[in-house]
Amino acid sequence: MEANEHRILIVDDEENVLKALKRAFAEDGYTVDTYTSPKDALAFLAGQRVSAIISDFMMPEMNGLEFLLQAAEVIPDSVRIILTGHANLEMAIKAINSGAVYGYLTKPWDNDHIRVFLKNALKKYELEKENKRLNNLLKERNEQLKDMNQNLEKKVKEQTRFITNQFNQLKVTFMETVKAFSRTVELRNPEIGAHMGRVASISKAIAENMGIKGEDLQDIVVAAWLHDIGKIGLPDVIIEKQEKRLTDEESGLLREHSTLGEVCLKAIPGFKNVSTIVRHHHERYDGGGWPDSLYERHIPLGSRIIYAADVFDKRVYSLGYGHPEQVGKAWEYIKAHSGKFFDPDVVAALSVIQKSWEKSVKRLDIPKKVVLDKLKSGVVLAEDLKTKSGLLLLPKGVKLNELHIIRIINFHNANAIKGWVLVLEQVKQ
Ligand SMILES: [Fe+2]
Ligand SMILES: [Fe+2]
Repeated sequence: MEANEHRILIVDDEENVLKALKRAFAEDGYTVDTYTSPKDALAFLAGQRVSAIISDFMMPEMNGLEFLLQAAEVIPDSVRIILTGHANLEMAIKAINSGAVYGYLTKPWDNDHIRVFLKNALKKYELEKENKRLNNLLKERNEQLKDMNQNLEKKVKEQTRFITNQFNQLKVTFMETVKAFSRTVELRNPEIGAHMGRVASISKAIAENMGIKGEDLQDIVVAAWLHDIGKIGLPDVIIEKQEKRLTDEESGLLREHSTLGEVCLKAIPGFKNVSTIVRHHHERYDGGGWPDSLYERHIPLGSRIIYAADVFDKRVYSLGYGHPEQVGKAWEYIKAHSGKFFDPDVVAALSVIQKSWEKSVKRLDIPKKVVLDKLKSGVVLAEDLKTKSGLLLLPKGVKLNELHIIRIINFHNANAIKGWVLVLEQVKQ
């Protein structure tokens, strides 16, 4: 701030003093206002930008200290100086200590001294003003920063919520796609399709019991849903025949289903582990399995889990549909072959869940008659569904989906089958 930008107010009841001071300061280019009455000076101050106020102490209307205190209320930023005789020095020092005034000048004065004194006082005024401006700026910037941070936090939260929702949606869509893919096998052979769905449930329960989580768990469940998908490529005569009745040549062909499954899945991005698990789902713990005769920990854990779940399910459903007695027998078989065919850790995990599995299978053993209009997907056929001419439409044990139901109703509309079917309650999967 240039000197001539400063406005100075001087109050003294003696005109001569005012004139002399005005002259002394005028050389420095300040704008100087003078008043003999402190009351008039206060009235003048309202709305003015005054940098420094110099006041005499001994005045008839009010003393200089009283005047400066009132002036400070009107213009708090101004520097205040008291002009006093030696007799009142003690009071002036007290006023400085209280913070009410910046300093004092004594009468009579030396012009050079008071000009330097005022210059210093104005420097303090400028510094304080600049300091205040910077503080306000800092405060303003802090507020802006706080607002920006809050907005950023809000935006990050919104984005995170959006991405999480999309991710969860994608996960659901992914699993539903895998299940739909698995169910297409039912069109070729309903029993294989139903078996893969149940093996997925058992494998998931075993894996969770073993503490497997995240992507590893997902790979195992997906592999279980698809583990026999390679059977689509085999001739009907092989997939419809009981395994023990197959010729050596037919058995050899059946064994190809795990490698066919691997070939079918490994081209899908992200399915490397899934396809490997599928390849080895018939390896035995003692190395007597196929296709690579892997043993113990060399067999992927997911394959060890699916193999136990697969054999367990085949034994439970050996009659065509689940029966509680079969659960006990299946479990005894698995237990007896722990460490030979099956990984003992997997068997231990299966022992925990097989009891609850027995309960869910128990719910299957009461067939009930349902008219075709009331047929819902998820129920299991309790008997072979044949046309009136004896053609097998769907074998017992098939879990009905919407496609099956449309097909059944179409056959009924063509008067080819009766208007009801025997079904079993749905297995919880
Ligand atoms: Fe298999
Ligand atoms: Fe299987």
